[in-house]
Order: sequence, then structure tokens, then C-alpha cells
Amino acid sequence: MTDTTEIDPTKTEVAPLFEPLELGPRTAHNRIMQAPMSVSYGHADGSVSAKEIEHYGRRAQGGVGVVFTENFAVNLAGRQMPLQTVISEEHLPGLRKLADEVHGHGSLAVVQIVHSGRYAGPWDEYESRRRLAPSAVPFELTPGRTVTPQEMTEEEIEESIEAFVHAAQICERAGFDGVDVHAAQGFLISGFLSPRTNHRTDQWGGSFENRVRFASEVVRRITAGTGQDFIVGVHLLSDELIEDGWTIEDAVRLAPLLEAAGAHFLFAIPATFETLRLPANQGLMNRQGYAMADSKALAGAVSIPIIANGRLGGPADMVKALVETNVSAVALARAIFVDPDWPRKVAAGANDSIRACPCDPPRCLRTQLTGSICGHWPTSAQERGHLGYDERTL
Ligand SMILES: Cc1cc2nc3c(=O)[nH]c(=O)nc-3n(C[C@H](O)[C@H](O)[C@H](O)COP(=O)(O)O)c2cc1C
Ligand code: SF4
Repeated sequence: MTDTTEIDPTKTEVAPLFEPLELGPRTAHNRIMQAPMSVSYGHADGSVSAKEIEHYGRRAQGGVGVVFTENFAVNLAGRQMPLQTVISEEHLPGLRKLADEVHGHGSLAVVQIVHSGRYAGPWDEYESRRRLAPSAVPFELTPGRTVTPQEMTEEEIEESIEAFVHAAQICERAGFDGVDVHAAQGFLISGFLSPRTNHRTDQWGGSFENRVRFASEVVRRITAGTGQDFIVGVHLLSDELIEDGWTIEDAVRLAPLLEAAGAHFLFAIPATFETLRLPANQGLMNRQGYAMADSKALAGAVSIPIIANGRLGGPADMVKALVETNVSAVALARAIFVDPDWPRKVAAGANDSIRACPCDPPRCLRTQLTGSICGHWPTSAQERGHLGYDERTL
């Protein structure tokens, strides 16, 4: 292992990455974060597995300031993936172990909470139960397969908001530092934002004020229902990237309302699963800095930290982003997945030893349903199905 103890990164050119960051009531020890990345290492019954605990512990050990978990479902109706963790009272012991493991390595631990809405699984039985959405708008679930979710009743809307609050409270009791509300990618909350998927005529649809009510209520009620030292942030759909959809101007208008509702940080997340398939948006996730313009736009509208994400390039690009723009931190998904020691290597000036993510082939996406594997891990990790404490990349 490279000895990282003698170098003080705060005295080098990468110093901006290693300054502490206040996220509302708590402080991250640096500005490099593990972005939420669905790897499906949980149990089929929705409980937390030992593999999951080791996976996130290993990322914390690599030196990130914050570990964001992948999206954990707020209830069974909001679950998308067959091995996705579901937040519930019964799963509290496993959640507690997960928070403890991450804290043991000095990182903050934040759970991303989601209701998948019209993307809820299992997809092979899509028509057999209610799939919740603001409106019954048909969409292409998988290439060539169009399905229609159901329009939520007022009661279901109320229950779903409360499910977010209850899930956040469970995370707080488990010892996590906060939650990150998933309001992007086409999941339930972002479905309310978009005029394409929200055709309601009641207080939850129609005008901008009505379409953003669900997102604002979730943040407001979580803030009210958890302690003052609990972090609440939002992954916000920044632009649907489709005609007649939610735009960056809408997101810039919503951001201060989320801040007023109590949000401590925001991510800007362009596109949804649906619009990523449009010819103009294909390959978006591999374009360097694809969310930077939106991140900067949000940063201009609020005083809370904006966490940049989306193929951010190398350490020098990230330092430049922090120094020259108004974003406060960087979050890495694939780069930390392929090489959890990324932060320690950058701190030690050992950039040459960083295991790159060339995205060729993006095996982590193809293996996502059964447990993500990276084709660029050491062979032992690929064979075991995850890169944990036994595999060093230094
Ligand atoms: C396999 C995979 C799973 C992902 N799962 C999530 C998720 O659970 N929640 C989320 O908000 N974003 C998720 N993302 C998006 C990432 O957080 C991130 O925004 C995107 O990968 C771009 O960052 P990167 O270039 O550092 O990978 C996922 C991305 C990948 C590749
Ligand atoms: S499988 Fe490819 S895209 Fe995924 S983390 Fe590994 S190198 Fe990156």
C-alpha cells in the first residue's frame, strides 16, 4: 500500500478537494463524495446484507467525505429492483450496522430515499398491481414495451409523502447523518414535477406551484419530522431534456423553494430514464461534465451547497470546478466504484495509480439487476462479485 500518512493534501494543488464542507448541521471531512450508485447487493427481502455493509464501508475506507447509499426504497410499493434495500422497522438492525461501518472509517453516511413510482418493479408483473404516478400517462418501460401506471388518489399521495418521512425517521434512528431525497430520473417525485407526466387538475398538478408541491412537502415534512442535526438534501431533476418537459428554468425556480423547505444541499440531475433514450441524449452519461451547466445554474439560485456530479473528469478538472465555479463538492459514482481508493490516491499525489473507468464495456450497468460487477476490478473482486476489504487497489 502507498503510504499516505506523510502528505498533507491541504498543502498541495488538490487542496480544494480536501477542505471540510458544512452540509447543514454536519461537516464532511472533505469534498469528495461517493455518489448514489445502485449496485443491488441487498437481500431479496429488502434487508441489508453483509456484502452491502462491506461495499459501503470499503468506499468510506477509501477516503470519501460522504458515502451516499444507492437509492433505498421508502416502502415496498416504491421498490424498483429485486435486490434493492427497502427501509422498514424490521430492517433497522442492518441499517444500523451499515451506518456504523461507514462512520467507522470517518465518512458521513447519507441514505438516498426513493419511491420509484411508475418504474416500480417487478417489471415482469407490471400490470398485476397498482403502479403509482401522478397521472395515467403511458410510457416505454423497456424498448418496445409500453405500459400505463395508475393515477394516484389523494390518499395515496398523502401516504407516499408520509412514507418518505417515516423512512427518513428510520434512517435517523439507525444512526445515519441524513437522507438524500430522490427527485430525479423519472421516479415518483420527478413525475410530479413534469408537465408531461403530471396532468392532474387538483392541488398536485397544473400550475408550477401545484406540480412542485409534492417535492416541497416531502422536504418540509422530513425536516419537521427529524432532528435539527439531521441532513436533508435533494437529487433534483434539473432538465428533462425533451420538448414540453421540465426545464432548467423550472429547476432554478424550484431550488430556493426547496432551500426554504429545509434542504441542506442539492444535486442537479439532467434527463430521465425515458429521455436518455432520445437520439439527442444517447451517451449523455459519458459526456464529460454533462451536469455542470445545470449545477452552476442551481448554485446561482441558492446559498446551500450544490454537489457537482456527472463524469467530472480527473482530479485537476474537479479542482478547477471547485475553484472557478460556485459548486461546493464533487460526487463520483463510477470512479469510486471501480477504484474506492480514488480519494486516498489523490491525497497522496498518486494519480498514476488510479484505476480508470473507461466505460468500455459498462459492465456495472449490465450486471445491475443481480449485483454490479466492474470489468476493471482485480480478477479476485470480479470473481467474488464485489470489491471489499480484501482487495486493495493501492
Ligand atoms: C450503475 C449505476 C447506478 C446508478 N444508481 C443511481 C442511484 O441509485 N441513484 C442516483 O441518484 N443515481 C444513480 N446513478 C447515477 C450516478 O449517481 C451519477 O449521477 C452518474 O453515474 C454520473 O456520475 P459518474 O460519472 O461519477 O458515474 C447510477 C449510475 C450508474 C452508472
Ligand atoms: S464497469 Fe465500466 S463503467 Fe462501470 S465502473 Fe467499471 S469501468 Fe466504469
